[in-house]
Order: sequence, then structure tokens, then C-alpha cells
Amino acid sequence: VRESLVVIALLVVLLYMSWQLTLIVLVVLPVSVYTASVFIRRLRRINRDTISMNAELTHVVREGIEGQRVIKLFDGYGREADRFAYVNARLRRFAMRAASADAALSPLSQFFIAVSVAAVIAVALYQANQGALTVGSFAAFMAALGQIFDPVKKLTKIASGMQKMLTSAESVFTLVDSLPEADEGKQELGDQIQGRIEFRNVTHRFEGVETDVLNQVSLVVEPGQTVALVGRSGSGKTTLVNTIPRFVEPLEGEVRIDEHNVRDIKLKSLRRHLSLVSQDVVMFDGTIADNVGYGSLHDASRQEIRDALEAANLLEFVDSLPQGLDTPVGENASQLSGGQRQRLAIARALIKNAPILILDEATSALDNESERQVQASLEQLMAGRTTLVIAHRLSTVQKADLIVVLDSGRIVEQGRHDDLLAQDGLYASLYRMQFREE
Ligand SMILES: Nc1ncnc2c1ncn2[C@@H]1O[C@H](COP(=O)(O)OP(=O)(O)O)[C@@H](O)[C@H]1O
Ligand SMILES: [Mg+2]
Repeated sequence: VRESLVVIALLVVLLYMSWQLTLIVLVVLPVSVYTASVFIRRLRRINRDTISMNAELTHVVREGIEGQRVIKLFDGYGREADRFAYVNARLRRFAMRAASADAALSPLSQFFIAVSVAAVIAVALYQANQGALTVGSFAAFMAALGQIFDPVKKLTKIASGMQKMLTSAESVFTLVDSLPEADEGKQELGDQIQGRIEFRNVTHRFEGVETDVLNQVSLVVEPGQTVALVGRSGSGKTTLVNTIPRFVEPLEGEVRIDEHNVRDIKLKSLRRHLSLVSQDVVMFDGTIADNVGYGSLHDASRQEIRDALEAANLLEFVDSLPQGLDTPVGENASQLSGGQRQRLAIARALIKNAPILILDEATSALDNESERQVQASLEQLMAGRTTLVIAHRLSTVQKADLIVVLDSGRIVEQGRHDDLLAQDGLYASLYRMQFREE
């Protein structure tokens, strides 16, 4: 009885917060419970299929989330009729496949779950875009929803089926979290920017975290310079560079490009001037040409794509494939090796030809040999651009104009390689550690 009361109370809360979402959940819930009970009975038999299905659903949502940054940075909005059409198409495909995959589970209820997930996503996105649902209230909604699942689980003694919904719900939360981007910027950057970057007392703290991830960071990167950011994992390097495309908006301080505060620049205009090659390379489920062309601000010609691939040291490999440029890369380019993926990302950045370049552990997926190969393409990419490079291998930063050492969100040392070694501080000890490893 107590459990039921809890459920009712929570339902009232949910209804109050967003009746549209609650209605969907109310419809989904009984069906899920039913599906889940069928599910449980046949769990053993369909276990293998379930695992791959879950993985696929998670993959679909993840690709949507990760892909977002790529879409944003390369301004893919226009090409995606809607930036979520992509995820939706994948969800639909998932639903279709799930529905036809296994006769052990009623195809209808599987289809229903997939469609409800899509519906929750759609409604949440819609409301978020309308400004009717803030990230905060969506978080609260999800928290309450999470709580409601608990008693329901006990009531029905069914866990497994729910798990899938919850995982998806969590992913949706992350998706919505990064969704409606405030764009108060009015200024347009001209075509020819100098590419000076300045961080002024940048301080940031993530919600729900006790300590500052960035603490009064001030740094100037002059046009054309290469500055290397070095520091232990978790020291705030990625967060710092993420303030430039405004993936992260610092709580205090400002980030400037030339004389403009990035906050005052239109996102579209801002990101046109940035190229990013990051740790986790995100590729779309298309051909090699599609993925490289994605970087281009106009429709890249085949020749331009070939040139970019050549500069990234990948053309020879692509030409050796039977389908060449039109080879499908598979989901997140799973058909390619880590090194090939990274070189593809470099080609994508090259074709964008932006004056500011951010390399966030761009060679982390490479072994020493392929890193040496990519190094040349990276140097070509860096030439004449303002570059911020985060490298996990210190050998790749030795040539930088300036090395900046971050520790717990603060700049603790800066200088040239030899000077920092002579100082015998954190850089020297990181360097020695690295040296021993290699
Ligand atoms: N979105 C986030 N929410 C909360 N904490 C985060 C988020 N992103 C990063 N962090 C935390 O901030 C710290 C710095 O992360 P990061 O900038 O990625 O470091 P680095 O790139 O130097 O390894 C880490 O402790 C990380 O766990
Ligand atoms: Mg990082």
C-alpha cells in the first residue's frame, strides 16, 4: 500500500512538472510493464539479442549526442534538415529492426517501446526548444521519474525491461542538457580574422561539483602561434579549450577572439573560424567522402576531398579500397582503425580551413609509428593557424611556441620546453614520467 501511495504522489509531481511527458510515460508504463513481464519469461532465450539491441539503442543516442558537437562545429545544421533528424532516423531504423528481429518478443511491444522512446525524446526536445522545459525541470522530471520506477519495480518485481527505458531516458537527459544553446551573440566575425585567442581570468565549475575545474586562467595565444596545454588527466585542459567554441560557458572571466568576447559573437560565425580534432573522433554513418566533406563550409568537390585526404596521409589507403571515396565507413567509422579515423578527422579539419585550430589529444588513438606519419599532416594543418594543442605525448609539444602546464584548473608553469625542464617543476616530472614510459 505504501508503495502505491508513493507512486501516486510522484505521479502528481510529474503531472505538475510536465503533463505532456507524464502522459507519454503513463502510456508507456503499463505497456512496458507488460512487455517486461513477457521479457522476463523469455529472458534467457533472447538474452543475446537484447544485449545487442540495447547496445544499438545506446549507440544511436550516443551518436546523436557526440555527433552534435561535430554538427555544431562544422555547422551541419543546414545539411541535416534538423540536427535530430539524424538521431530520429537511426531510432526509426532501430525500431524497425527491433520489430522484425526476434519473434520471441512481441514485435508490436518492441516497436512500441522504441516509438515511445522516440516520442519522449521528441516531446522533450520540442518543449526545450520552445523554452517550456528548462534543463533544470527536465532534470527534476527525470529524477522523479527515476524514483517512480523504484516502487513500480518493487510492485511488479520486474526490473529488466525498465532498465532499457531508464538508460534511454538518461541518454535523453544528456541530449536535452546540451540542447537549446543560448545564442545572445550579435556580432559577426569578418572573413579575415587574425586568430588571436585570449583567456581572461577564466573560472568555471560544473554543476554539482565541489571544486573549480578552471581557476583564474589567463592566457594569450598570438595569431599563428602554437600553444601546448599540458597537465595530468582531469586538470581541465579539455574544458579550457571547450570554452572557445562555447561548448562550455565559463562562470567567470571571458574568452576573446581578436577583440571580441566569444559571448558576443553569433555561434555560427564563431564556429566557422574554428576547427577541432578531438580525442574521440566522431564520424557519421556514411561514406568517406561524406565524412570529409562534412568539414567543408561549402559543398566540397571530389578533388578538394582528395587533396585533404592526401594531406592527411590517407589518400593511398582510400585509393586502395575497391569503392574508394565512396566506401561506407560504418557506424562511427568502425570499419576503420583508430589511426585512420583520426587521419579522417584531420582531413575534415583541413578542408574546413579555419584560422583557429584546436587539437585535443588528436593523436591519442595512434601508436608511435602512425603518430609519426600523422605528425607531418598535423604540422601541415597547423601551419599559419593559431593552434591550441593538447597532447598526451610530450614529444609532440616540444616544438610549441609556448607550453602551458595546468594543474587542478590553474596554470602552474609556462615557458619553452628547455626552460621548463630547467625549472624542474611539474612539466619536468611529467616529462620524465613520459620518458620512462616510452
Ligand atoms: N560536463 C562535466 N560535468 C562535470 N564534471 C566534468 C564535466 N566535464 C569534465 N568534468 C570534470 O572536470 C575535470 C576536468 O576535465 P577535463 O577538462 O576533461 O580534463 P583534461 O582534459 O585535462 O583531462 C575532470 O575532473 C572531469 O571529470
Ligand atoms: Mg581531455
